[in-house]
Amino acid sequence: MPRKTKHDWCEAPIGIFDSGLGGLTVAREVHRLMPHEDLIYLGDTARVPYGTKTAATVTRFACEDTQFLMGKKVKAVVVACNSACAWGLSTLERHFDVPVFGVILPGAKAALEATRSNRIGIIGTSATIRSQAYHVNILARNDDARLFAKPCPLLVPLVEEGWTNHPVTIKVLREYLRPLLKRKIDTLVLGCTHYPLLKTALRKVVGEKIKLVDSAESCAEFVRERLHFLKLLATGRRRQGVIWPFVTDEPERFGDFAERFLGCETEPPRKVELPPCRIMV
Ligand code: DGL
Repeated sequence: MPRKTKHDWCEAPIGIFDSGLGGLTVAREVHRLMPHEDLIYLGDTARVPYGTKTAATVTRFACEDTQFLMGKKVKAVVVACNSACAWGLSTLERHFDVPVFGVILPGAKAALEATRSNRIGIIGTSATIRSQAYHVNILARNDDARLFAKPCPLLVPLVEEGWTNHPVTIKVLREYLRPLLKRKIDTLVLGCTHYPLLKTALRKVVGEKIKLVDSAESCAEFVRERLHFLKLLATGRRRQGVIWPFVTDEPERFGDFAERFLGCETEPPRKVELPPCRIMV
Protein backbone atom coordinates (compact mmCIF):
# COMPACT_ATOMS: atom_id res chain seq x y z
CA MET A 1 0.00 0.00 0.00
CA PRO A 2 1.40 3.46 -0.87
CA ARG A 3 1.89 5.67 2.20
CA LYS A 4 -0.46 8.61 2.65
CA THR A 5 1.08 11.95 1.72
CA LYS A 6 0.56 15.09 3.84
CA HIS A 7 -1.96 16.24 1.23
CA ASP A 8 -3.98 12.98 1.57
CA TRP A 9 -4.03 13.39 5.34
CA CYS A 10 -5.39 16.94 5.08
CA GLU A 11 -8.19 15.65 2.87
CA ALA A 12 -9.18 12.92 5.38
CA PRO A 13 -12.25 13.47 7.60
CA ILE A 14 -12.23 14.40 11.30
CA GLY A 15 -13.77 11.68 13.50
CA ILE A 16 -16.01 12.73 16.39
CA PHE A 17 -17.67 10.44 18.89
CA ASP A 18 -20.01 10.65 21.87
CA SER A 19 -22.00 8.19 23.94
CA GLY A 20 -25.06 9.43 22.09
CA LEU A 21 -26.22 12.60 20.43
CA GLY A 22 -24.96 15.26 22.88
CA GLY A 23 -21.66 15.32 20.99
CA LEU A 24 -23.52 16.82 18.04
CA THR A 25 -23.16 20.14 19.89
CA VAL A 26 -19.40 19.72 19.37
CA ALA A 27 -19.87 18.63 15.75
CA ARG A 28 -21.99 21.77 15.20
CA GLU A 29 -19.19 24.03 16.47
CA VAL A 30 -16.50 22.13 14.53
CA HIS A 31 -18.58 22.46 11.36
CA ARG A 32 -19.21 26.16 12.06
CA LEU A 33 -15.52 26.94 12.60
CA MET A 34 -14.17 24.60 9.89
CA PRO A 35 -16.96 24.45 7.28
CA HIS A 36 -14.79 22.72 4.66
CA GLU A 37 -13.88 19.74 6.83
CA ASP A 38 -15.63 16.40 6.33
CA LEU A 39 -16.83 14.92 9.62
CA ILE A 40 -17.60 11.37 10.63
CA TYR A 41 -19.82 11.36 13.72
CA LEU A 42 -20.36 8.25 15.82
CA GLY A 43 -23.06 8.24 18.52
CA ASP A 44 -23.02 5.09 20.63
CA THR A 45 -26.78 5.33 21.11
CA ALA A 46 -27.10 1.64 22.01
CA ARG A 47 -25.03 2.15 25.16
CA VAL A 48 -25.80 5.77 26.19
CA PRO A 49 -25.39 6.97 28.94
CA TYR A 50 -21.69 6.52 29.69
CA GLY A 51 -21.91 8.91 32.62
CA THR A 52 -23.33 6.32 35.03
CA LYS A 53 -20.77 3.60 34.20
CA THR A 54 -17.38 2.66 35.65
CA ALA A 55 -14.01 3.98 34.44
CA ALA A 56 -13.04 0.60 32.93
CA THR A 57 -16.31 0.26 31.00
CA VAL A 58 -16.25 3.84 29.69
CA THR A 59 -12.61 3.42 28.61
CA ARG A 60 -13.43 0.18 26.78
CA PHE A 61 -16.35 1.85 24.99
CA ALA A 62 -14.15 4.84 24.08
CA CYS A 63 -11.55 2.46 22.55
CA GLU A 64 -14.23 0.70 20.50
CA ASP A 65 -15.62 4.04 19.28
CA THR A 66 -12.14 5.22 18.29
CA GLN A 67 -11.31 1.94 16.57
CA PHE A 68 -14.46 2.37 14.45
CA LEU A 69 -13.40 5.91 13.45
CA MET A 70 -9.87 4.73 12.65
CA GLY A 71 -11.44 2.22 10.25
CA LYS A 72 -12.91 5.26 8.44
CA LYS A 73 -9.36 6.64 7.97
CA VAL A 74 -9.88 9.80 10.02
CA LYS A 75 -6.99 12.26 10.43
CA ALA A 76 -7.89 13.09 14.05
CA VAL A 77 -10.37 11.99 16.71
CA VAL A 78 -12.44 14.36 18.85
CA VAL A 79 -13.78 12.84 22.06
CA ALA A 80 -17.03 14.83 22.21
CA CYS A 81 -18.08 13.26 25.49
CA ASN A 82 -16.80 14.52 28.82
CA SER A 83 -17.33 11.15 30.50
CA ALA A 84 -15.29 9.29 27.84
CA CYS A 85 -12.66 12.02 27.88
CA ALA A 86 -12.42 12.04 31.69
CA TRP A 87 -11.65 8.33 31.89
CA GLY A 88 -10.42 7.29 28.45
CA LEU A 89 -8.40 10.11 26.86
CA SER A 90 -4.93 9.00 28.01
CA THR A 91 -5.58 5.39 26.86
CA LEU A 92 -6.72 6.64 23.44
CA GLU A 93 -3.67 8.92 23.12
CA ARG A 94 -1.37 5.99 23.94
CA HIS A 95 -2.94 3.41 21.64
CA PHE A 96 -4.12 5.22 18.51
CA ASP A 97 -1.91 6.68 15.86
CA VAL A 98 -3.72 9.98 15.15
CA PRO A 99 -4.09 13.16 17.24
CA VAL A 100 -6.86 12.71 19.82
CA PHE A 101 -8.56 15.82 21.25
CA GLY A 102 -10.84 15.91 24.27
CA VAL A 103 -13.35 18.42 25.58
CA ILE A 104 -11.99 18.79 29.09
CA LEU A 105 -8.66 20.59 28.61
CA PRO A 106 -10.17 23.33 26.39
CA GLY A 107 -13.09 23.70 28.83
CA ALA A 108 -10.70 24.03 31.78
CA LYS A 109 -8.64 26.68 29.96
CA ALA A 110 -11.76 28.60 28.94
CA ALA A 111 -12.99 28.59 32.56
CA LEU A 112 -9.71 30.10 33.75
CA GLU A 113 -9.90 32.78 31.06
CA ALA A 114 -13.50 33.60 32.00
CA THR A 115 -13.27 33.79 35.79
CA ARG A 116 -12.45 37.01 37.62
CA SER A 117 -12.98 35.76 41.18
CA ASN A 118 -11.37 32.30 40.68
CA ARG A 119 -14.62 30.77 41.99
CA ILE A 120 -15.67 28.22 39.36
CA GLY A 121 -18.63 25.85 39.36
CA ILE A 122 -18.52 22.61 37.36
CA ILE A 123 -21.52 20.50 36.39
CA GLY A 124 -21.35 17.17 34.59
CA THR A 125 -22.34 13.53 34.69
CA SER A 126 -21.50 11.47 37.78
CA ALA A 127 -18.56 9.86 35.91
CA THR A 128 -17.04 13.20 34.90
CA ILE A 129 -17.38 14.74 38.35
CA ARG A 130 -16.07 11.59 40.07
CA SER A 131 -13.01 11.57 37.79
CA GLN A 132 -11.96 15.06 39.02
CA ALA A 133 -10.63 15.65 35.48
CA TYR A 134 -11.67 19.33 35.49
CA HIS A 135 -10.06 19.82 38.92
CA VAL A 136 -6.77 18.35 37.70
CA ASN A 137 -6.72 20.44 34.52
CA ILE A 138 -7.75 23.70 36.21
CA LEU A 139 -5.61 23.42 39.35
CA ALA A 140 -2.53 22.47 37.28
CA ARG A 141 -2.82 25.94 35.71
CA ASN A 142 -3.99 27.96 38.69
CA ASP A 143 -3.84 26.52 42.17
CA ASP A 144 -5.67 29.56 43.58
CA ALA A 145 -8.87 28.49 41.84
CA ARG A 146 -11.74 27.47 44.14
CA LEU A 147 -13.78 24.74 42.47
CA PHE A 148 -17.32 23.66 43.34
CA ALA A 149 -18.57 20.61 41.45
CA LYS A 150 -21.98 19.01 41.22
CA PRO A 151 -22.98 15.82 39.39
CA CYS A 152 -26.29 16.33 37.56
CA PRO A 153 -27.40 12.86 36.41
CA LEU A 154 -30.97 13.91 35.54
CA LEU A 155 -29.98 16.46 32.92
CA VAL A 156 -28.94 14.10 30.09
CA PRO A 157 -32.31 12.23 30.07
CA LEU A 158 -34.16 15.59 30.16
CA VAL A 159 -32.23 16.84 27.14
CA GLU A 160 -32.70 13.52 25.29
CA GLU A 161 -36.44 13.91 25.97
CA GLY A 162 -36.34 17.34 24.33
CA TRP A 163 -37.25 19.13 27.59
CA THR A 164 -34.52 21.70 27.19
CA ASN A 165 -36.59 24.64 28.46
CA HIS A 166 -39.35 22.79 30.30
CA PRO A 167 -40.55 23.91 33.79
CA VAL A 168 -39.47 20.52 35.21
CA THR A 169 -35.95 21.03 33.83
CA ILE A 170 -35.79 24.52 35.34
CA LYS A 171 -36.83 23.11 38.73
CA VAL A 172 -34.20 20.38 38.49
CA LEU A 173 -31.55 22.95 37.50
CA ARG A 174 -32.50 25.17 40.49
CA GLU A 175 -32.07 22.21 42.81
CA TYR A 176 -28.71 21.19 41.36
CA LEU A 177 -27.30 24.71 41.13
CA ARG A 178 -28.41 26.06 44.54
CA PRO A 179 -25.25 24.87 46.37
CA LEU A 180 -23.00 26.30 43.65
CA LEU A 181 -24.78 29.67 43.62
CA LYS A 182 -24.41 29.86 47.43
CA ARG A 183 -20.63 29.58 46.88
CA LYS A 184 -20.76 32.78 44.79
CA ILE A 185 -19.26 31.27 41.62
CA ASP A 186 -18.72 33.71 38.75
CA THR A 187 -18.18 31.01 36.09
CA LEU A 188 -20.00 27.75 35.42
CA VAL A 189 -18.43 25.00 33.29
CA LEU A 190 -20.98 23.00 31.31
CA GLY A 191 -19.00 19.78 31.67
CA CYS A 192 -21.22 17.62 29.48
CA THR A 193 -21.79 17.96 25.76
CA HIS A 194 -25.57 17.77 26.27
CA TYR A 195 -25.63 20.89 28.42
CA PRO A 196 -25.12 23.61 25.77
CA LEU A 197 -28.72 22.81 24.79
CA LEU A 198 -29.80 23.95 28.26
CA LYS A 199 -28.30 27.44 27.97
CA THR A 200 -31.67 29.24 27.86
CA ALA A 201 -32.94 27.34 30.91
CA LEU A 202 -29.61 27.82 32.69
CA ARG A 203 -29.76 31.58 32.15
CA LYS A 204 -33.18 31.63 33.86
CA VAL A 205 -31.63 29.95 36.91
CA VAL A 206 -28.20 31.59 37.19
CA GLY A 207 -29.04 35.05 35.80
CA GLU A 208 -26.96 37.09 33.37
CA LYS A 209 -23.80 37.69 35.41
CA ILE A 210 -22.37 34.18 35.68
CA LYS A 211 -20.26 33.18 32.68
CA LEU A 212 -21.24 29.88 31.08
CA VAL A 213 -18.32 27.90 29.63
CA ASP A 214 -19.59 25.83 26.74
CA SER A 215 -17.29 22.83 26.33
CA ALA A 216 -18.45 22.37 22.72
CA GLU A 217 -17.33 25.86 21.66
CA SER A 218 -14.00 25.76 23.47
CA CYS A 219 -13.30 22.25 22.14
CA ALA A 220 -13.94 23.24 18.50
CA GLU A 221 -11.59 26.24 18.85
CA PHE A 222 -8.93 23.97 20.35
CA VAL A 223 -9.31 21.42 17.51
CA ARG A 224 -8.93 24.13 14.86
CA GLU A 225 -5.83 25.52 16.59
CA ARG A 226 -4.20 22.09 16.90
CA LEU A 227 -5.02 20.99 13.33
CA HIS A 228 -3.65 24.29 12.05
CA PHE A 229 -0.46 23.75 14.07
CA LEU A 230 -0.15 20.18 12.76
CA LYS A 231 -0.81 21.44 9.17
CA LEU A 232 -3.74 19.03 8.92
CA LEU A 233 -6.52 21.45 7.95
CA ALA A 234 -8.18 20.87 4.56
CA THR A 235 -7.21 24.40 3.53
CA GLY A 236 -7.29 23.66 -0.22
CA ARG A 237 -10.89 22.43 -0.26
CA ARG A 238 -13.52 24.71 -1.77
CA ARG A 239 -16.68 22.63 -1.30
CA GLN A 240 -18.70 22.52 1.94
CA GLY A 241 -17.69 19.71 4.32
CA VAL A 242 -19.97 16.67 4.50
CA ILE A 243 -21.17 15.11 7.77
CA TRP A 244 -21.55 11.33 7.84
CA PRO A 245 -23.41 10.18 10.97
CA PHE A 246 -23.25 6.64 12.38
CA VAL A 247 -25.17 5.35 15.40
CA THR A 248 -25.21 2.01 17.17
CA ASP A 249 -29.01 2.04 17.58
CA GLU A 250 -32.18 3.87 16.42
CA PRO A 251 -30.92 5.69 13.30
CA GLU A 252 -34.49 6.96 12.76
CA ARG A 253 -34.31 9.11 15.93
CA PHE A 254 -31.20 10.81 14.60
CA GLY A 255 -33.14 13.02 12.17
CA ASP A 256 -35.01 14.91 14.93
CA PHE A 257 -31.91 15.32 16.99
CA ALA A 258 -29.71 16.37 14.12
CA GLU A 259 -32.02 19.30 13.47
CA ARG A 260 -32.07 20.38 17.11
CA PHE A 261 -28.45 19.68 18.05
CA LEU A 262 -26.68 20.31 14.78
CA GLY A 263 -28.85 22.76 12.87
CA CYS A 264 -27.67 21.58 9.44
CA GLU A 265 -28.10 18.73 7.01
CA THR A 266 -26.15 15.50 7.10
CA GLU A 267 -25.88 12.37 5.00
CA PRO A 268 -28.47 9.77 6.09
CA PRO A 269 -27.47 8.16 9.42
CA ARG A 270 -26.32 4.56 9.31
CA LYS A 271 -26.51 1.90 12.01
CA VAL A 272 -23.27 0.10 12.82
CA GLU A 273 -22.08 -2.69 15.13
CA LEU A 274 -18.88 -1.94 17.05
CA PRO A 275 -16.54 -4.93 17.21
CA PRO A 276 -14.73 -5.49 20.54
CA CYS A 277 -11.49 -3.58 20.83
CA ARG A 278 -8.18 -5.40 20.88
CA ILE A 279 -6.72 -3.03 23.47
CA MET A 280 -6.60 -4.41 27.02
CA VAL A 281 -8.05 -1.81 29.37
N1 DGL B 1 -22.46 13.70 26.37
C1 DGL B 1 -21.97 12.96 27.52
C2 DGL B 1 -20.88 13.77 28.23
O1 DGL B 1 -20.44 14.81 27.76
C3 DGL B 1 -23.07 12.68 28.51
C4 DGL B 1 -23.97 11.55 28.22
C5 DGL B 1 -23.62 10.29 28.93
O2 DGL B 1 -23.76 10.18 30.16
O3 DGL B 1 -23.23 9.40 28.23
O4 DGL B 1 -20.44 13.37 29.30
